[in-house]
Amino acid sequence: MEVVIRPNADAATDLVARVIARELRDNPRLVMGLATGRTMESVYARLVQMHREEGLDFSACRTFNLDEYVGLSSNHANSYRHYMNHHLFLQVNIDLQNTHLPDGMAADLVAECANYERLIAGNGGIDLQLLGIGQNGHLGFNEPLSALRSRTRVKILSPVTRAQNVPLFPRPDLVPHRAITMGVGSILDCRCCILLATGEEKAAIVAKAVEGPITGMISATALQLHPECTLILDEAAGSQLKESDYYHWVFENQPEWEPFRAVSSPIAKNGFQAKRQLEKQPVEAMSDVLE
Ligand code: GLP
Repeated sequence: MEVVIRPNADAATDLVARVIARELRDNPRLVMGLATGRTMESVYARLVQMHREEGLDFSACRTFNLDEYVGLSSNHANSYRHYMNHHLFLQVNIDLQNTHLPDGMAADLVAECANYERLIAGNGGIDLQLLGIGQNGHLGFNEPLSALRSRTRVKILSPVTRAQNVPLFPRPDLVPHRAITMGVGSILDCRCCILLATGEEKAAIVAKAVEGPITGMISATALQLHPECTLILDEAAGSQLKESDYYHWVFENQPEWEPFRAVSSPIAKNGFQAKRQLEKQPVEAMSDVLE
């Protein structure tokens, strides 16, 4: 696991979007695992901007969302299908046939869950999984006590999760009670994952997820088992981490982060570090640095 703490939410979001864009440019047929929630809205806005301004191409990629509410149709304003269409899919050149979410209206929900797992496997598995974190530490809708090896299935939403999602619904009682979600085990199968958390209200659960013991009570702690997992945080979400100096040191010294350090550091915005970076970068990497 790596933890990257950026000075503010914009810088954290920008870094996540740049990593996704880099992966997509390297592999146009990327299989992306996508997440919903308010935190992700700015990531998708940034990707849409990159599509419009830099020609970021989504035409060959495939996507699988983590979850969908049971009982909401795809055109319901609060369904995750609607969210994804609105924030990303209809704003970029993605082929909607290549975008997948579980069907929360399926007559046979058990069969739908098994089918979703088969569909992911049939596409070669997820290359890059984007994750948010719920206030109780859930990933997708893997509520407390989710098995660390669980697969896609129906989960009952906890009171904490329903309360967290109330602002997105017209009335509290309209928040669904159940959702289909990829399991913790399904998530751990992805080749690499990035979790984005911003804001003070995520600080306590982020500290538990990173520095606490692995437990089925907090599904995000399972990410400690993943060999390619990065948490990208703003200062507020990282404020309860005990070892943040160490995480900063790793980010500043890890060679893989070099192009991203140059563009996301505040100094770089003043030109100094970006210039030094340019002097060190091979020609083909310059466009990344200059973006
Ligand atoms: C929902 C989603 C999660 C997401 C969470 C975070 O519960 N099922 O996948 O991580 O929202 O939401 P927010 O970004 O609004 O805090």
